Amino acid sequence: RTELRWGAVMGVLVAGILGLIIYAALALHISPPSNVERIDPKTLQLSDEFTEQNLGTQVSGDGRVTARIVATQYAFLPPCVAVPLNRPITLRFASPDVIHGLLIAGTNVNTMVVPGYVSQVHATFTQPGETPMPCHEFCGLGHSAMLGRVQVL
Ligand code: CUA
Repeated sequence: RTELRWGAVMGVLVAGILGLIIYAALALHISPPSNVERIDPKTLQLSDEFTEQNLGTQVSGDGRVTARIVATQYAFLPPCVAVPLNRPITLRFASPDVIHGLLIAGTNVNTMVVPGYVSQVHATFTQPGETPMPCHEFCGLGHSAMLGRVQVL
């Protein structure tokens, strides 16, 4: 009898937590950053967004700063990203091959990069200098050498 009661309590807790997650996703639009938009992984290099000329940091006409970075076996392109200090910036990542992951040391930037999706995170860098951006998702034999850099200027 006691067990049944505990079982019911747990059931209610699990349902409540699931409800919160669904509420966060649907009402507050909080969801993992790794699947903002779909993108064709095969034509990544040729897409409007992730062309060779487009990679790195760009300031658009209205002053918004966007950095586009390709995570690929076994490097980030560009390998060093320059970003402005104390300015909100949008980071967009895509992968043409396998799942990668990345974090930027000293910030809360941490996401997976899944082929077929654009991963988008927002950040403001408040510490000048260089900070490492390692891949943290095992992506093959060269995984441990996959290390990018962010230069905050
Ligand atoms: Cu890319 Cu590990």
